[in-house]
This record gives sequence, C-alpha cells and structure tokens, in this order.
Amino acid sequence: MSQPDNGISSVLAETRSFPPSPDFVARARLDADKLAGLHAAAATDYIGFWGDLAKKELAWQTPFRTVLDDSDAPNYRWFTDGKTNASVNCLDRHLGSRGDKIAIRFEADKGGARTFTYKQLHAAVCKLANGLKSLGVVKSDRVIVYLPHTPEAVIALLACARIGAIHSVVFGGFSASSLKDRIEDTAAKWIITADGNSRGGNVIDLKKTVDESLASGGKTVEKVVVLKHGDNAVQMSAGRDIWWHELVATQADRCEPEWVEAEHPLFLLYTSGSTGKPKGIQHSTGGYLLGAHLTCQWIFDLKEDDVFWCTADVGWITGHSYVTYGPLSNGATVMMFEGVPTYPDAGRFWKICQDHGVTIFYTAPTAIRALMKLGDDWPKKYDLSKLRMLGSVGEPINPEAWMWYHRVIGNEKLPIVDTWWQTETGAAMISPIPGAMPTKPGSCTKPLPGIFCEIVNEAGVPEKGKEAGGYLVITKPWPHMLRTIWGDNERYKKAYFGQFPQQADGGYFYVAGDGAHRDKDGYYWIMGRVDDVLNVSGHRLGTMEVESALVSHPRVAEAAVVGRPHDVKGEAICAFVILKGTRPEGAEAEKLIKELRDHVAKEIGAIAKPDDIRLADGLPKTRSGKIMRRLLRSIAKGEAITQDTSTLENPAILEQLAQTN
Ligand code: WTA
Repeated sequence: MSQPDNGISSVLAETRSFPPSPDFVARARLDADKLAGLHAAAATDYIGFWGDLAKKELAWQTPFRTVLDDSDAPNYRWFTDGKTNASVNCLDRHLGSRGDKIAIRFEADKGGARTFTYKQLHAAVCKLANGLKSLGVVKSDRVIVYLPHTPEAVIALLACARIGAIHSVVFGGFSASSLKDRIEDTAAKWIITADGNSRGGNVIDLKKTVDESLASGGKTVEKVVVLKHGDNAVQMSAGRDIWWHELVATQADRCEPEWVEAEHPLFLLYTSGSTGKPKGIQHSTGGYLLGAHLTCQWIFDLKEDDVFWCTADVGWITGHSYVTYGPLSNGATVMMFEGVPTYPDAGRFWKICQDHGVTIFYTAPTAIRALMKLGDDWPKKYDLSKLRMLGSVGEPINPEAWMWYHRVIGNEKLPIVDTWWQTETGAAMISPIPGAMPTKPGSCTKPLPGIFCEIVNEAGVPEKGKEAGGYLVITKPWPHMLRTIWGDNERYKKAYFGQFPQQADGGYFYVAGDGAHRDKDGYYWIMGRVDDVLNVSGHRLGTMEVESALVSHPRVAEAAVVGRPHDVKGEAICAFVILKGTRPEGAEAEKLIKELRDHVAKEIGAIAKPDDIRLADGLPKTRSGKIMRRLLRSIAKGEAITQDTSTLENPAILEQLAQTN
C-alpha cells in the first residue's frame, strides 16, 4: 500500500454543515433519537442487533438459530441454518399488498417507457426461471448475464435467484476478452444476453461480443439466451442460441422457489484489485439481502410512495443493491434508464426526474461534475419539485460538486447522502442518515449502525482520539460482507484480512484499500485508494490490468500505469510505455498511441482506454528494479519532482518522461 494522505487536505478545511430541514426530520423514518437507539443496540449486543433485524425484515422459509458463525474466521457465516429465497423477498411477499403497485418504471435510450407491476414482474421472473430450468439450470449453476440496463436485466437476476442459480453480471461495456475471462473463471454453461442496445444513440452489439468471446474460449457455454431488444441483426447459432421470447412463450407464470441456505451464493461480481485478474466477489443470499434491504430504509428513508432512481447500471454492485435487491425487497417503485445523462441533450436526467416523478435520486460524482459543467439552465428547465432527497456514490465527491448538487438540484433544502461502500461490502457502510444528522460537503459522515470502522496506522494500530488519518478498516464482520473470492479463498484472506495481524479477540481487520480522515466530530472523509486501484468515472480498474493489456500488444516491451486527477472523471489513466525497437515520433507516434488505446479497449473495454499514453525509453526504477510509481504520478500530474530520487538507477529518465507530455 502506498502512504495515505495524512496531511490536512483542502476538503478538511471544509467547515460548512447542513442540517436536514425540520420538515424532513418530522417525516423521516429515522431521527437522531432513533438512530442513537440503533447505535446503542449494536454496541451493547452486536449479535442480537443483527439477528433481530434479520428476523424482522426478511421472509424466511426456515428461521435461523445461529446469527454469526465465526469458527472459521475470516470466513464468516451468517444466519447459517436459516433458509430463504431472494426473489420471494423481492416479489412474492409484496403480491398481497402491492401486487398492482409499479415495481419498475423504465425509459429507453431513445425514449419510450414501459412499466411492470409487482404481479407482472413476478410472472416474468417465474417464466424465465422455468425457461432456465428447461435448459437444465439447477441450484448453484453459474449464469452469466450480459444485458443492457433494462427491466429484463432485473428479471434475469431474480429468475436466477428463484432457482438458486448464481448470477454473474458482466457490464455491457466490457470487451469479448473480459467476458471470456469471466465465463472461464465461473465455468458458466449459460449466458443471457441481448441482440443489442442503444446508449447515447450508439448501437451496442452485445450478441456479437458474446459470439467473439465464445469463438476465442469459454468452452463451457452450452446455451445463449438472447433478448430481442435492440433490433440488431444477429447470427443465431443453431442448437446453442435461443430467443428469450421463444424460451418463455410456453412457460408457466408460477415457479416454486428453491429455498436456499442463507449462505448460498446469490451472485458473483467481478471487480478489480491491485494485483492479477479481476476477482469474483461472492455474495451470500441472506446476509447480502439484509444489507441491501436495511440500508434502503436507513439511508434513503424509503417510503411507500417513493420513486427511487439509482442511475447505476446493473453491471455494477450499485445496480445490484440499489436498483434490484434493496428497493424491490422493500416493495418500492424503481426507476430504470438505459441511456446516458447527456443524450439527446444535457437535460435528460432532469427530464426523467420530472416525467416519472422521481423522489429519490442517487448518482455518481462523475455525472454530477459533468452536468455541473453544462450549467444551471438545464436542470432549471424541468420541474424537480417531487425530489425529496439526493445521493452520491462511487468516488469521493469534491465540495464544489456537492455544493452544486445541493444548490441547483436540491434547491438548498434536500438532504444529500454521500454513501461510502464497495463491491465487497455489499451495501453502504458509511453514510449520513438523512433525517438524523447534519451533512458536510465531501464527507460520507459516520458508519451505519452495526458497522464498526477504525482508522489505523501502517502497523494496523487504531488511531486514538476522534481526529485521525490513515487506513480505513472495518473491525467486525457484517452480514452483507463478501464471503470469498470465487475459486480463491487464500486470495480472499490475504487481500482483505492479511494486511494486519489477527486481533487479541480472534477477530481480523477488513482492509478497505482506502485512505481516510476522521474529523473532530467523528465524520469520515475518504481520501481515495491507497493501493494500485484506479477509480475512473466511478469505475474500478487495476493499474496492472491496464498494464497487462498494453504489454499484450506486440510493440510494447513494458508499461506502467498511474492515475492523475481529472476534473470530471475523478481520475484519468496515464500510461508510460516502453516499446520494442525504435521509438517513433510525430505522426507515427500518434498513430501508434491511438492503436494502443484501441488495443486496451479491445482487451478490457472502452472504460479502460488510457487518457494519456507517453512513449519513453525507460521507466524510473530503483536499483532492485522496482518501478517508482510515486514519481510517475508526479510526472503524470505535471508536478516538479520534489521527492528523493537518490535511490533511482536511472535518474536521467525523469527529464525525458516529463517532456513526453
Ligand atoms: C470508492 C462502488 C469516496 C472507494 C460502490 C471504494 C468512494 C471504491 C465512495 C469501491 C464515496 C465508493 N466516497 N469514495 N462515497 N464510494 N468509493 O467496488 O475508493 O466499484 O474503495 O463500489 O470506490 O468501488 P466499487
């Protein structure tokens, strides 16, 4: 890990504080007293706290007796002897009281809306579940979902959950090669995809990408289910490919759920780490669902008549927890939008809020910054009066963007919840409770009830006192934590619990990989990753993944990738590349740079395209051959090198690198 930023940075000079309006507090599910009650309950009886909530909030077929089994720590098990089903929690339990309530409101990229009531969603899920069964899918089988952000993506997830199959969603922006890696790691026999979709007016050919990935590997795949959505011409492979609508046409709209143990894997979701290939993060059924469910109530104050819009794609964890499982488990109305914020114009998000009566809006800082740049006139054109609270997720939000969100979208009165969490944590961990505390621009405030965080130093020792800076760790297990890395439990133990020694009480510290500060009020300020993970427009990417993609190009001998600050994306990708043979200049260099950027897009996906590629003759290395990334970070930022370079083997290279800009 690199050194977290321990200095008092600009965000900590932030002194503004915004209490919720009395009106919001009066109606909130949780006010300050109720929140204090939850914290006190978790502090006095941590096991009882989670056990009571799990009993009360989820529908169990077989009640559990054991809340937490830590006999094999850090492989924690929650509610082990209970049985449940995530799709029953999200659908069946609402049919009596909310059968005709709208579960999903959907708007397509090119316009055009569709809705599903809870009854309709239940029927569609059962039909697909029966269809999957007819293709041979049984409990514990892995099913890859490579779909656009449409209601069918949610239907696919819930259909897998209904029959105990483990879904693994691959974001539609990932390349054939990334898709193949995920198919091979999960050994999936089934893929659910679409004939394509439109995003920002661009046609995306998902089925073609599936075909490409299966031509190059993924030999386990037996069947590909294809949703007709984009109306692209597709090649259907006889015996392998089957249309979704044909598969479900003759299926019953009832499907008995497969009751699974609470620990049964609900899904795998691949995410980047600092080393090696992306890791298949494995989540459980019971614990995960509890986290997604409760946090919707706590941090979004979710109520019966809300229209909840989380703009994340279902391909990311946020789309799992806050488009699918959390809101549906609460019987909420979910808004889904397939497109991008700026198509056909920069008012699209605000028009959707107006047209669909969105009451809770949750998005990423990168979108807020991009929309902020386009000016206040766009949101002002629309009636945003139904909005009652706002959220942010995925990366640190700078105070300037926070203030714009507060002033222009929130009309200076809506609470903003800046929610810190990760693919691995399953649900939000540090976040304001909107009716219970003041917020500060740029701070995710305090850990949620039942979540215990510390800031530790290099040796893993918690910093005493409120004000502190260092590594963020979570000191007690929580129900919605990841269970393992698919197929690599040793990597799970090492990556998340191996950093610091086992504690005297037998527990372990979960290392988040983020640096953080805590201020005098006990508020947390996330300073960003301290490992080799980049956060580009809220998307996680490992520097090593991008480096491997670059060196897989025949002209590249060596590559080093670092992040540099970017005013919209948060971080931009900067790659230093050493070529085999002579280094071209001028137009020839430009042509090669374009080729290398496209090569990375082909290997990983367009989200990983480096913003800058700098061709050079060497990299700054220590005498033992280690690349000095902190120097590269300074060069990428255009800073003068002030660090000690005496350990460098080739100090002269710094000058050349600085000029490659
Ligand atoms: C970053 C996304 C600051 C952080 C849910 C974390 C944040 C990584 C915030 C996880 C936030 C997420 N403030 N940083 N509110 N939320 N992050 O797995 O660096 O895609 O470790 O999960 O995003 O990214 P992931």
